[in-house]
Amino acid sequence: MVVNVIGLGYVGLPLCLEFAHSGLTVVGIDVDPERVRRVNAGESYILDIPDAAIQKLVRSGHLKATTDFDVLSTADAVCICVPTPLRKSQDPDISYIVAALDEIQPRIHPGMLVVLESTTYPGTTEELMLPRLSESGLEVGKDFFLAFSPERVDPANSRFGTRNTPKVIGGVTPQCTERAAALYRHAVDTVVPVKSARAAEMVKLLENTFRAINIGMVNELAIMCERLGVDVWEVIEAAKTKPFGFMAFYPGPGLGGHCIPIDPLYLSWKLKTINYTARFIELASAVNSSMPEYVVGRIHEALDQCRRSMK
Ligand SMILES: NC(=O)c1ccc[n+]([C@@H]2O[C@H](COP(=O)([O-])OP(=O)(O)OC[C@H]3O[C@@H](n4cnc5c(N)ncnc54)[C@H](O)[C@@H]3O)[C@@H](O)[C@H]2O)c1
Repeated sequence: MVVNVIGLGYVGLPLCLEFAHSGLTVVGIDVDPERVRRVNAGESYILDIPDAAIQKLVRSGHLKATTDFDVLSTADAVCICVPTPLRKSQDPDISYIVAALDEIQPRIHPGMLVVLESTTYPGTTEELMLPRLSESGLEVGKDFFLAFSPERVDPANSRFGTRNTPKVIGGVTPQCTERAAALYRHAVDTVVPVKSARAAEMVKLLENTFRAINIGMVNELAIMCERLGVDVWEVIEAAKTKPFGFMAFYPGPGLGGHCIPIDPLYLSWKLKTINYTARFIELASAVNSSMPEYVVGRIHEALDQCRRSMK
């Protein structure tokens, strides 16, 4: 079985390694020739991946990388792991998904499985990818298979990697879910099927929105504690001793990583298009993005107390 992975970043490269490690033939595709060169030379550019892990699989012929999308014409499956940032207007930028789709569409062939992994708004797989891929004349669930499976990689986490993190999969049809689950069982220990691609898209957004909102809540708690003259860190540490029903989140000047500050806005954007305001997301986003200014203000005050100037 030949698997292509489009986008060899934090998500795509570890996925390539797990598939290749399980014995599948993996060809990674990236528009960045330097990344392609480095994979083929057995050089890692991702913190968690040692050079030796790539070298072993390249040498055994299980892994290679290319900038040439023509390899898609003979692949049994393709996983899309391209970036999904925000535009300056804070709206979703799905241009990378569209670019990948433009390469797959002319090369789709009977039996091919297409899986989107990039985090995106609910409906992307069915509303954007399905119509475009169906232009080929092939029928989904019969001639080709389409699913969404969110990535949950946590860079630098030494306990949970691609293989031991359960993978949620939602196909456009039950046959699509079945095919995608069969593929991912090569790379991950536990596969969690859900009833639709839309549900799988929503799972990822629930996970990251949960974090963004709790971080927003604890950031506001820090502001409240300051006004009340209470030490927020002591409060959190003491609350953490409750063995059930509480999960610690910590205040800070910014949100970590490039997922938590971005992904919930994909969800609120989608809801806006159907006349609904995602209030929790907007509030958390407003609190979180005001934190740098708040922290600078606190530093200003602390310097003042030492008779020092902000300059
Ligand atoms: N990094 C994480 O921790 C993480 C975790 C969960 C989900 N995600 C999601 O996974 C997706 C990918 O994120 P990432 O962190 O791996 O991004 P990344 O920037 O590390 O890697 C993306 C790669 O895609 C390549 N690329 C861009 N456009 C391309 C195209 N048209 N064809 C081929 N290659 C292309 C880039 O050159 C780059 O190498 C995003 O949707 C992100 O939100 C990331």
